[in-house]
Amino acid sequence: MLRASAPAPGARTFRQILEADMLTRRAFLHATGAAAAAAAVADDGLARVERAARAVRNLAPEDVAADEQYWREVQQAFTLDRTIINLNNGGVCPSPRVVHEALKRYLDISNQAPVYHMWQILEPNIESVRRRLAAAFGCSPGELAITRNASEALQIAQLGLDLKPGDEVVTTNQDYGRMLDTWEQRVRRDGIKLTKISFPVPPSSLDLLAERLLAAITPATKVLHFCHITNLTGQIFPVRRICDEARRRGIRTVVDGAHAFAHFPYTAADLGCDYYGTSLHKWLLAPIGTGFLYVRREHIPALWPLTPAATGKSDDIRKFEEIGTHPAANHNAIAEALNFHEGIGIERKAARLRYLRNRWADRLRQHQKIRIHTNLDPAHSCAIGTVQVTGIPAGKVVAQLWERWRIIATPIVHAEYEGVRVTPNVYTTLEEVDTFAAAMESIAG
Ligand SMILES: Cc1ncc(COP(=O)(O)O)c(C=O)c1O
Repeated sequence: MLRASAPAPGARTFRQILEADMLTRRAFLHATGAAAAAAAVADDGLARVERAARAVRNLAPEDVAADEQYWREVQQAFTLDRTIINLNNGGVCPSPRVVHEALKRYLDISNQAPVYHMWQILEPNIESVRRRLAAAFGCSPGELAITRNASEALQIAQLGLDLKPGDEVVTTNQDYGRMLDTWEQRVRRDGIKLTKISFPVPPSSLDLLAERLLAAITPATKVLHFCHITNLTGQIFPVRRICDEARRRGIRTVVDGAHAFAHFPYTAADLGCDYYGTSLHKWLLAPIGTGFLYVRREHIPALWPLTPAATGKSDDIRKFEEIGTHPAANHNAIAEALNFHEGIGIERKAARLRYLRNRWADRLRQHQKIRIHTNLDPAHSCAIGTVQVTGIPAGKVVAQLWERWRIIATPIVHAEYEGVRVTPNVYTTLEEVDTFAAAMESIAG
């Protein structure tokens, strides 16, 4: 963005600059339009996914979940190394080709003259991305800031809230390490109190999760912080129930949705939280280095940004995006990821993810030496599942999966349990899931 400054004597008027600018812009759009058309011919991934979706539009998501012909089209939209089986999509995900091409295209455009092409042409289009993300999440665009990841989004809320010494934050001991570290820093720096509750895995009911958190509230509690879905076992929390009760008691809710957005269907109205942070480089399959922060409208003015912004911006959600120079390519290519995501449809996607998860989980749970720490009820979980081979450390199981079968999974070692976290994605094939299940049987054997 160009900064306003006093015009030098003899400088062109703003109108002249604008007119010249529009001419250049037209020429530019002509050039990039041609580039985009060429890219579209070279990459019909999105068109194929949309065509496949039309063919199954009258089927229920659960039926499409088992339609390999449909998912083959989706699998083809990625440029993957199929000599390895990536079952760690909980960390960060590959983007479909069409998204990655958009990212590269925007980087190329930016590099022509970044002060112009990136700041003047690409950067303002962040507003289209904001509008579309807000529509998908179900909030107003004025409540959504685009961030570089979920950590940044959540830390804006965690570090931007005014809390006095002795004020309490209640969370769980299964929340994400970095987010717990962030609160711990406030304990050391600001003298707040942090209470971490524990809960069983798998929990017997969603009520139990809500009751455990709400029972920990004391008169000093100012904030509840918890995951929409945990990264350790993929446990989904009854967010609305907890947030409604917290609001009734005057307590703010910070919800860690790093793994939730574009993973299974919901909207902001189903949550009722005050602050929400998510990654977009996980389940939305957007470029690496993308996320968003939702702040309930009335809380925007009082929440301090991590990187200070001008006073005049204090009630503008964009104050949370004042991070200095950064690539426009990453956040603009989110638009392409939304196209791809909407091309599949969230209901179909969640059904397929559960289908893939159940395929290995239903087979392995028969095994005497295997324990599944994830509650497989659809109200409790979706793609993510954590499984233990009893008697063998999770790190060793993961090492064997890699060394013998070239399967990537991640070890989860918590003070109260351990296991291997398995996260397939829309590009995962049945053969890959079956290879994993057979490998686990062999290790447990
Ligand atoms: C539950 C949870 N919260 C927050 C994060 C941080 O996400 P990001 O890496 O996008 O900052 C993660 C990352 O895996 C996570 O699993």
